[in-house]
Amino acid sequence: MKVLVVGGGGREHALCWKLKRSPSVSEVVCAPGNPGIAHDARCVNVGAEDIDALMKLARDEQPKLVVIGPEVPLVLGLADQLRAEGFAVYGPDQAAAELEGSKTFSKRLMHEAGVPTARFEVHTDADAAEEAIRSWGAPIVIKASGLAAGKGVIVARSVDEAVHAARDMLAGNSFGDAGSQVVIEECLVGEEASCLFLVSGDTILPLASSQDHKALLDGDKGPNTGGMGAYSPAPCVTDDIANEVLERIARPIIAALKKRGAEFIGTLYVGVMLTDEGLKTLEFNVRFGDPECQPLMSRLKSDLGEVLLAAAEKRLDGISLEWDDRMALCVVVSSDGYPGSFSTGEAIGGLDEIEAAGTTVFHAGTAEKSGIIVNSGGRVLGVTALGATVSEAQATVYGALKKLDWPGGFYRRDIGYRAIERE
Ligand code: AMP
Ligand code: GLY
Repeated sequence: MKVLVVGGGGREHALCWKLKRSPSVSEVVCAPGNPGIAHDARCVNVGAEDIDALMKLARDEQPKLVVIGPEVPLVLGLADQLRAEGFAVYGPDQAAAELEGSKTFSKRLMHEAGVPTARFEVHTDADAAEEAIRSWGAPIVIKASGLAAGKGVIVARSVDEAVHAARDMLAGNSFGDAGSQVVIEECLVGEEASCLFLVSGDTILPLASSQDHKALLDGDKGPNTGGMGAYSPAPCVTDDIANEVLERIARPIIAALKKRGAEFIGTLYVGVMLTDEGLKTLEFNVRFGDPECQPLMSRLKSDLGEVLLAAAEKRLDGISLEWDDRMALCVVVSSDGYPGSFSTGEAIGGLDEIEAAGTTVFHAGTAEKSGIIVNSGGRVLGVTALGATVSEAQATVYGALKKLDWPGGFYRRDIGYRAIERE
């Protein structure tokens, strides 16, 4: 079958890479894709947020399945429009995508469904937000309610930092409209994990566990980013914990959405914190994690095309997933300066040598200029390897990265350290 993938980041490269290797798939088309994806799919220059152009592309291409990678087109209602025209789509409708599109909606639904999460308040007025922050005290977490590419969360160590962040968001300075509502949250302490589920109506199929590193710097220090590296499985997610996430978080939230008339087809990403008081939900996303998708696809042995089509056609109940027993680890190489400002158009050399050293290089923010790969975004590469242990996979990736010829490239040196401590 022909599959159309929407998106052009590292997650979409991993999806296209796996789809190309799926026996059920004969052709992969990707909009807009990137130079790495071009090895696994035919890239079409249509932006992932241009809904009208994507609809026209689907009509022209007539794919058997459309897989929507990023959150923005989901929140804009691309899946609804495609389904209305009879396409099989993997990705939730707009109403269900609110789970990610609005943290206010998401927190209120968690509360309603009895899903464990941090105590919270929603504010639209800066003075009221400041009063609440001062009465709660620090540390405290301030979140822009809308989409902010993983950067809209400030874990404030002091009251002043929190007040400043909330005022900045509410004034529209830092995240535009996304910050017109802020969620203030109790600060949780513990280890984080990503638990992803393939969902199709009432069928919820867990994927292998994973863990990402959201902070920019070694030791999980510095500002939050979209994710600087990830690995799968996450040793802290025992079978009991995985089951608890399914029963206490995923099932009730999908049921609560359904009660509101929003059926979910797509990936439910549950970000959890394992605290001393038990499991707490940090966030929901309505798509694969980026970079979690890169190690997950590296380990998945099942035919991804068949699985996602079954979900899109509400036949997921008969499906089970097979995984490579090895660990997979992905290190993100970003442009120096990200998540702040950075320069683009710098030549990136050594990519073939990095792959020859036993890794798969997933492209994110890359472009091609006169036959040379250059950086075009914040997160640029996801260098991924399998290994019998996390240490082994990590050694392969960092060994390979010695071949990277890009002075403006930045990456963390400790991806996987928590899992390695457990080993
Ligand atoms: P979110 O987008 O809501 O997952 O937040 C991004 C990151 O901020 C999370 O992965 C956590 O590292 C951190 N974070 C979010 N909420 C909290 C919280 N209530 N307490 C502590 N850290 C948090
Ligand atoms: N890696 C976190 C996310 O995809 O939101």
